[in-house]
Amino acid sequence: MSNIPSERDSFGSRFGVIAATAGSAIGLGNIWRFPYVAGENGGAAFLIIYLGFVLLIGIPVMLSEFTIGRSAQRNVFGSFRKLAPGRPWYLIGIMGVVAAFMILAFYTAVAGWTLEYIFQSIINGFEGLSSGQLNDMYFSFIGSPWRPLLWFFVFMSFTALIIMSGVQKGIEKYTKILMPVLLLLLIVLVVRAVTLPGASGGISFLFKPDFSKITTSTILEALGQAFFSLSIGMGTLVTYGSYIQKKDNLGSTAVSVAFADTFIAILAGLAIFPAVFAFNIEPGSGEGLVYITLPNIFQQMPGGYFFSLMFFILLGVAALTSTISVLEVIVAFFVEELRLGRKAATLLATSSVSILGVMCVLSTSSMADVKLFGFTVFGLMNFTSANILLPLGGFFIVIFVAWYYGREKAGNELSNGGKLKTRYLPFYMFVIKYMAPLAIAFIFLQGVGLIKL
Ligand code: PFF
Repeated sequence: MSNIPSERDSFGSRFGVIAATAGSAIGLGNIWRFPYVAGENGGAAFLIIYLGFVLLIGIPVMLSEFTIGRSAQRNVFGSFRKLAPGRPWYLIGIMGVVAAFMILAFYTAVAGWTLEYIFQSIINGFEGLSSGQLNDMYFSFIGSPWRPLLWFFVFMSFTALIIMSGVQKGIEKYTKILMPVLLLLLIVLVVRAVTLPGASGGISFLFKPDFSKITTSTILEALGQAFFSLSIGMGTLVTYGSYIQKKDNLGSTAVSVAFADTFIAILAGLAIFPAVFAFNIEPGSGEGLVYITLPNIFQQMPGGYFFSLMFFILLGVAALTSTISVLEVIVAFFVEELRLGRKAATLLATSSVSILGVMCVLSTSSMADVKLFGFTVFGLMNFTSANILLPLGGFFIVIFVAWYYGREKAGNELSNGGKLKTRYLPFYMFVIKYMAPLAIAFIFLQGVGLIKL
């Protein structure tokens, strides 16, 4: 039995909805992952395909999640159970909660590293180090257990404190402050990067497409990046959708959030590539781009101390507004399905996620040799959630709305009971009935190695 309070918490304003949802979408995926994935996949050519996927698949999946959440007014599991009583669709909800556990565990581990790098920026720890030494610094930090563990718990506590305060007084209140701060910090960094001598190489890398760089794997990477970056496929936006008021416009919210997420990814590229080119660094230098390459750049550029500190604070803020959205998936589930109070639910969720989280943190040190299916625990959580659970969740979510919930009910929710014009409805239905499931099935099968191209 569920314990649904008669007055369910909700977002109080339209700006609050956008700040919270864009806060979830904008995170390590935009600032840490996007630049290096784009860097490895040809820059502008990748960006164009990515934009196509955001528009054609990302927005429709996001709209479907909003529709489910706002119709049902429940957590992700409860939403499917309410909209499809007695049917097995609630399994999508269970999968979402499981994915939330996995993502929160490894994502918080990486988010914790930003705190170490904020600390190093404050004490001027990168000064005078060669690129080899910065490389060693990164690997010796993640290779020792204690500091990453400490930062993991600090980050998890920040996340828990915000979630305990509730939807409007926690999530909404903090994202409304943190998101504009993030935008401001990023703009300052972009201005610094594009005014460096030699920056133009980075700008053309990001905006001048070289279509010879496009391969099948570029296309699949772009779709995967769109899913992860938009926070779709695991019910985060079903949960947030359930807090959107009935008078708000779901269509324009989804478009604004997708736009904001993409805009921030482009700005992150504009903050990073011009600097990478100005200092003659390889743009495809992989996951270390942010933690190894950037400190190297910062300590060579005028004002580097200040910009390094700003950059890592930015990364931490972006990660925090995403971790809270993932934790909320679990907390809403515990509150409504296990009849727990919000504080108790948060404590239970964070302590159980932390068991898995500690294993993720230790995956680069004391538990580096513990392998499951050939992965470390960190690798396994990362791979299974992003490459299996998100695409699978996204696939079933659109199938659910298109083939089970149906055009009439979905249209009714999207138009706020006929009050709003929804001229996009036929196109949306076409996309979620055929295009999105096919495309997602394609990356999923390729991702798990069932088809090879
Ligand atoms: N969208 C976040 C990012 O780009 O960093 C990551 C994320 C958050 C993925 C929430 C999934 C999710 F449910």
